[in-house]
Amino acid sequence: MAHERAPWQRTHTCGDLNISNEGEVVVLNGWIENHRDHGQLVFVDLRDRYGVTQVTAHSETEGIVDGALELLQRLGAEDVVSIRGRVRRREGGSNDERATGEIEVLVQAVTVLNEAETPPFEVLDDVEANEELRMRYRYLDLRRRPLQEALIKRSRFTTAVRTYLQDNGFIDIETPILTNSTPEGARDYLVPSRVHPGRFYALPQSPQVLKQICMISGVDRYYQIARCFRDEDLRADRQPEFTQVDLEMSFVEENDVLDLVERTVVHAFKQGFDIDLPTPFPRMSFEEAVARYGSDKPDLRFGMELVDVTQHAAASAFKVFAGAVERGGIVKGICVKGAAGDYSRKKIDALTKHAQEYGAKGLAWAKISEKGVEGSIAKFYEGDAGAELIQLMAAEPGDLLLFGADEAKVVHRALGEVRLKVADDAGLRDPQTFRCCWVLNFPMFEWNEDHQRWQYAHNPFSAPVDWDNTDFEKDPESHRSRAYDFVMNGWELGSGSIRIHRPELQKKVFDFLGISQEEQERNFGYMLEAYKYGGPPHGGIALGVDRMVALALGRQGIRDVIAFPKTTMAVDLMSQAPSAVAPEQLAELQIESKARQDTPEEQVE
Ligand code: AMO
Ligand code: AMP
Repeated sequence: MAHERAPWQRTHTCGDLNISNEGEVVVLNGWIENHRDHGQLVFVDLRDRYGVTQVTAHSETEGIVDGALELLQRLGAEDVVSIRGRVRRREGGSNDERATGEIEVLVQAVTVLNEAETPPFEVLDDVEANEELRMRYRYLDLRRRPLQEALIKRSRFTTAVRTYLQDNGFIDIETPILTNSTPEGARDYLVPSRVHPGRFYALPQSPQVLKQICMISGVDRYYQIARCFRDEDLRADRQPEFTQVDLEMSFVEENDVLDLVERTVVHAFKQGFDIDLPTPFPRMSFEEAVARYGSDKPDLRFGMELVDVTQHAAASAFKVFAGAVERGGIVKGICVKGAAGDYSRKKIDALTKHAQEYGAKGLAWAKISEKGVEGSIAKFYEGDAGAELIQLMAAEPGDLLLFGADEAKVVHRALGEVRLKVADDAGLRDPQTFRCCWVLNFPMFEWNEDHQRWQYAHNPFSAPVDWDNTDFEKDPESHRSRAYDFVMNGWELGSGSIRIHRPELQKKVFDFLGISQEEQERNFGYMLEAYKYGGPPHGGIALGVDRMVALALGRQGIRDVIAFPKTTMAVDLMSQAPSAVAPEQLAELQIESKARQDTPEEQVE
């Protein structure tokens, strides 16, 4: 039996009504968005999650309650009201931009549900207020449609992920937030224990260890939409707490994980965002990605691949090229189709600067005309040498060629960035186009300059490609892991691997990484022990939810798709977290703080 509703409660939402409701008496509830007072005639846009409806009050309306017009005149932006009135065809022409644009509601009665103070900024879709102010008053910001859209689509997306994984035999398992350190390369957020003074929990950087333990527990297929916490330097695509679609599977190899994830992502992008991702996602090795695109997260929305001209350059009269090859380096170029006319000296200088920011010493360039090679290297490329270069680069008159000559790492990095920059300039990075790929077999280890030691590239649990060669001391850089990244439009959206499932090998990796016995015991003792009782071969991945949603919706950063994000200084401007705590709380934890406990700096960037 339906319960009786109060007279002020809505009969429709602000997005419901159209011309088919003409003549009906309805009740709407919502916030006042746009208030225009013409004396005997007042227009108000009433907003809720579902849309905006124009409400019109006129003193001579049939059935209008005494004082209703005056009340509406008095009200203003963000007041919360209930409006009763009759639906009619909108006078003065319909508004095609709104679903409710054909009608208006002619007011009979107004009930004030709550009055709002003048808001610190106008709640408009294309808001003008700066981000700091909007984060301080996040609840107002969240009323705006772009943010409502983000919340709604994000929810649809994660629901689709859950349904798909659930239908494919995955079990949603919650792992603890109060836990032990998990190695993902960032600092831990620590939580002091009151019961055990001097001891700390760490918030999980990911559920990595526990999901692997779930495999040892026989779960077979685990997933979780998991919150992760990392105390690291923040950027547009990084928050101190963020969300992963985390999953792990037993008795699998790469193909099993990649296929399943690909199907899940395609399904959820369609359900959540109505985006059709082109399949299959191309797969390439780390080496290939870097060689062809100068990046381990290639943007495949356009070609413009790096072309290796090292052999040719070795014999070049151009000292920069020949010299680089002599020193064991490489020379690579990109061909920017039809761009010769678009790049003035000034623009090329800016590109050169861009390359230099990424470590290059310079950026050699050439414009191709009917006559041959022109530009900074023209004098070395007259005649046959020029013709050969043009052929190698598959260049035609009108094209711009850009070259890097240095050690391979530098050339790839700088030219990879230049490739993105010129593509940006040419509008080749359309935010509505989506191209995914898999990058496989990352290096096991990378050299950390700052700490002068080898560190794991993905995480220390990734299995080596070559099980028979685990002599890591010998040429550490050459070892490849069974780690893979999921990449879309140049963003790393996910990372995973086939894991080490034998304790001896796991110990060997820890040893090579210089993790002391004590530390191994403290942080991973339980994991190494668990393996002794039968760990199945397994592998998995974690996908960044915030990044996927931001990319799908064409947003600049992930803050725009998180309900309550933090600033780059890791501050929640609305709640003012992190905050000082009462001295008694610290005393209870047996903690003394040397720092001044004032409020954190209010900074967005
Ligand atoms: P990784 O550390 O690569 O792997 O993280 C996986 C994905 O999580 C997202 N991500 C972030 N998103 C927002 N803010 C951050 N600070 C942030 N850090 C990471 C990215 C990234 O691709 N345990 C492993 C996964 C595994 O091996 O299964 C892990 O966490 O999209
Ligand atoms: P230079 O001989 O220094 O006047 O440089 C001639 C051109 O080569 C300029 O366009 C430089 O930007 C470019 N150049 C210099 N060093 C390098 C390098 N290592 N790789 C690519 N181009 C370079």
